[in-house]
Amino acid sequence: MAELKLTSITKTFGDVTALNNINLEIKDKEFFVLLGPTGAGKSTMLRTVAGLEKPDEGEISLEGHRVNDLIPAQRDVAFVFQYYTLYPTMTVRQNLEFPLRSKVRNHTEEEITEIVEHAAKTLRIEHLLNRRSTNLSGGEMQRVGIGRAIVRTPKVFLMDEPLSNLDAKLREVMRAELAHLHHDLGSTFFYVTHDQVEAMTMGDRIGVLNEGEILQIGTPEEIYSHPENMFVAKFVGSPPINFLEAKVDKGNLVVGSGEMLCCLTEEQLQVVEEYNKPVIILGMRPEDIQVTRQEGGGNSFQCEIYFKQSMGAEDILNLKTDGLLFQAIAPPSLNIKVGEKIYAHMDMSRSHLFDPETELRLR
Ligand SMILES: Nc1ncnc2c1ncn2[C@@H]1O[C@H](COP(=O)(O)OP(=O)(O)OP(=O)(O)O)[C@@H](O)[C@H]1O
Ligand SMILES: [Mg+2]
Repeated sequence: MAELKLTSITKTFGDVTALNNINLEIKDKEFFVLLGPTGAGKSTMLRTVAGLEKPDEGEISLEGHRVNDLIPAQRDVAFVFQYYTLYPTMTVRQNLEFPLRSKVRNHTEEEITEIVEHAAKTLRIEHLLNRRSTNLSGGEMQRVGIGRAIVRTPKVFLMDEPLSNLDAKLREVMRAELAHLHHDLGSTFFYVTHDQVEAMTMGDRIGVLNEGEILQIGTPEEIYSHPENMFVAKFVGSPPINFLEAKVDKGNLVVGSGEMLCCLTEEQLQVVEEYNKPVIILGMRPEDIQVTRQEGGGNSFQCEIYFKQSMGAEDILNLKTDGLLFQAIAPPSLNIKVGEKIYAHMDMSRSHLFDPETELRLR
């Protein structure tokens, strides 16, 4: 059982608190993604687990055993770094063999050849084995980097943005390959990224990290549909969620200067009554705002199309009304034109309500 547990981990660099009281449990065989913006502390967390950084406080345990005092080689984790770390004077084969030649491992030459060839086949880099590692494209180098991790069978794979240096197309291919690899190896993956698409598509669970603190942990669906705060809501989803300031007036939300009136659901009404403050933030994801040419009944407002981005499968519309700007998604078949007046219908059952001061979800 390769479960990994972090308890009250704090790590500072001078006056920067890179990790602030982190508590996290990663299950055996889980693909766990740590998602956060640059500087959030993601690499620091992985490096702390690997033993490359020492926490100021807290405990790290693997399979129920404290590993704080073990050196990296004793922790049985494999690390794929954010930047390529291949040995430039070696061939791809020698790079892959290197971790297996460690004295503690005791492999025979036949075993080494077999393991390397199996890893090369899995990552489709067999044809590169005799190349110098400096003569490779970014994508090829990244695969070799991953290959060096998978030639061993560690308890946990630690991967620090392994796809960030690849172009969009290759990133997509590699996302699928890594998910497959996780399935084939049956190991625990602790994967770091700032890319919400990677997190949503690959993770069994996601932890959202910002400024050294974990803001939410959940399945991709939980993170997307029930963001605990405005940061998580905004960080996940593209185009991003719209935040509209609204006044509470009886059973309604009055958005902007009053032309937009949204009727709360019964559940929301209870929440808002309990909250009992005059202003809240209404969060609407662009796909939860339907655009029509006919007036659509309740929660529907006339808007002008201010800007349109055609994405092929969908149009992203910037709508303007009553001094407010927000985004909605519409099918290209509607053939909506800039300047046109349309109706935007808010699906309140899919809306999110937040406290403007604490930025937390109202519940
Ligand atoms: N060795 C160090 N010395 C001083 N400060 C550091 C060191 N390593 C990290 N930091 C600081 O700790 C914070 C977290 O850094 P970290 O590298 O963990 O972020 P990250 O989430 O991996 O960011 P990125 O997405 O840019 O890789 C940052 O403010 C960074 O400047
Ligand atoms: Mg980093």
